[in-house]
Amino acid sequence: MGMKIITQIRQMQAESNKLRHQGKKIGFVPTMGALHEGHLSLIRQARLENDVVVMSIFVNPIQFGPEEDYQTYPRDFSRDEELAKDGGVEIIFYPAVEEMYPQELLTFVNVERLTDGLCGKFRPDHFRGVTTVVAKLFNIVKPHRTYFGQKDYQQAVVIKHMIEDLNFDIELVIVPIVRDSDGLALSSRNTYLSQKERASALVLSKSLQQAKELLDSGERHSKNVISRMNDLIKGEKLARVQYIEIVDSQTLEPVEIVEKEVLIALAVIIGKTRLIDNMVLKYN
Ligand code: PAF
Repeated sequence: MGMKIITQIRQMQAESNKLRHQGKKIGFVPTMGALHEGHLSLIRQARLENDVVVMSIFVNPIQFGPEEDYQTYPRDFSRDEELAKDGGVEIIFYPAVEEMYPQELLTFVNVERLTDGLCGKFRPDHFRGVTTVVAKLFNIVKPHRTYFGQKDYQQAVVIKHMIEDLNFDIELVIVPIVRDSDGLALSSRNTYLSQKERASALVLSKSLQQAKELLDSGERHSKNVISRMNDLIKGEKLARVQYIEIVDSQTLEPVEIVEKEVLIALAVIIGKTRLIDNMVLKYN
């Protein structure tokens, strides 16, 4: 079948009901558009594991803070449409804000504790906005499997918990970070960077690489690793650290001594652009 673009919730639900009735497995990739190779890797994985791939494109206002980039977030539907079609997406769900939020929203999904630290500390209502829209999208798209990128690691852990807590009958698949050849993790927000800023932004992946080298050579104290990362980033004039944390990869609680599986995560502001990156490492 050719690619369909559906803008109405009722129509999307009817389509998913029909597909499910035909015994088709639905793979779902939620996005805010401005597609890049990271999104395409989610689509590819979904293609491999399902009969039909649905991708949503919706810049979700309720996950942006008042000072954040909701208005300026990159939007280019015709480009996204081409990329989705080439990637093998069967259905794009592309609702307007009024379709998703037709009345004052009084019901929110809030995952506690896991959303307190890391990005949650600096983006107070962000995860509430994400879990609320993703829960709505699950009820609209009715997928069997859903695909999230590891770049937004905390988001993936939060969604996993929500799926379990609320008994969504959906399998969550987390797909590795896609990087440019020089190490920069792909993000729709990279389009904000000037050439100079883009060069500075390499400090995120470099600092993670440095952390890995320290840990590989036997360092086990988080604070030493974090302090070395801070030093490296301080050397970049355009970069300002928002946070660097080493946490348990499941609970997201900070660890003092690195053992078992940890997440090293950081947010750095480059000029006016906030970028995040992370690495999961396992030691005995
Ligand atoms: O990761 C994103 O692009 C968004 O947070 C998501 C999951 C599409 C919800 O708006």
